[in-house]
Amino acid sequence: MRIRPRRNRQSRVIRNMAQENRLSVQQLVMPLFLSPGEDVREEISSLPGNYRLSLDNILFEIEACVKLGVESFILFPAIPESKKDKTGTYSYSEENFYLSSIRAIKMNLPDICLISDVALDPYSSDGHDGLVENGKILNDETLPILGKMSVAQAEAGIDIIGPSDMMDGRVAAIRDALDKNGYKETGILSYTAKYASAFYGPFRDALDSAPKAGDKKSYQMNPANKMEALREGQLDYEEGADMMMVKPALNYLDVIHLMKESFDIPIAAYHVSGECAMLLAACQKGWLEYEKAMPETLESINRAGADIILTYFAKDYARMRKAGKI
Ligand code: PBG
Repeated sequence: MRIRPRRNRQSRVIRNMAQENRLSVQQLVMPLFLSPGEDVREEISSLPGNYRLSLDNILFEIEACVKLGVESFILFPAIPESKKDKTGTYSYSEENFYLSSIRAIKMNLPDICLISDVALDPYSSDGHDGLVENGKILNDETLPILGKMSVAQAEAGIDIIGPSDMMDGRVAAIRDALDKNGYKETGILSYTAKYASAFYGPFRDALDSAPKAGDKKSYQMNPANKMEALREGQLDYEEGADMMMVKPALNYLDVIHLMKESFDIPIAAYHVSGECAMLLAACQKGWLEYEKAMPETLESINRAGADIILTYFAKDYARMRKAGKI
């Protein structure tokens, strides 16, 4: 035997030197759930260690993450049922606490990157990402609302708009609305290949945003499809997306790989709530070791080709890095 792959694995230093991919804390985005009110800190039962936080506590949380090196955040609002309606008017209302919180966060911490969520579901009494009429999701009628929501968020100071709704043509509609209102610098991270997945459960618990009727299969993608991600990618690319996302991550590593090979803009992967919950549950039972299984999971998403990873483990990963454990 002249060729022995084990030679490159024989010591820690050689293994590190020969390592192919290195996940950096700078690639990680920490999702946060924002509640109205003060001093709110409610744990999400299906996602232990994650909380619905009011603005005061979110500021503390962001500061703690920044100290560990996590500087990018995606913010989701938990809208009280009383503010929801058929057309999601609260999403761009002057009174919206999500918008005032974005303003306050960026005022206090101007250097962080803050990513928004654009979709109707947190604001919709139907719990769908688009307008609903007679059980059908209206595509084109939804677009102007997404545009208004995006402009309101840009006005509040958001760095990157994150359309998660999967309506056709929304990246173009949002880009046009932003540009028309003078927000040429505001970026768009499009949820390009977002699948109709069973792994969003804890997130919907956190925001109480599950659809009241039906499912999301007429707009989110069929989990069996891969080429369709390229079609969605082509459209988002041409419509002016700055970054494109695959979501969820773990069950879709092949799609992440394909997107990375096919496009020359940054590819993000959303390691979603159910994927994190699954790992946490196994660790709580003592069936997996968190400090080994969690980094391996994030590294696999990075290896598949994700430049950016949205994960509820961002803070913990950064903490382990800082402690020299990984
Ligand atoms: C909805 C949205 C969802 C997530 C992010 N934005 C859920 C859904 O489509 O129902 C899920 C994220 C997660 O599960 O962590 N606009």
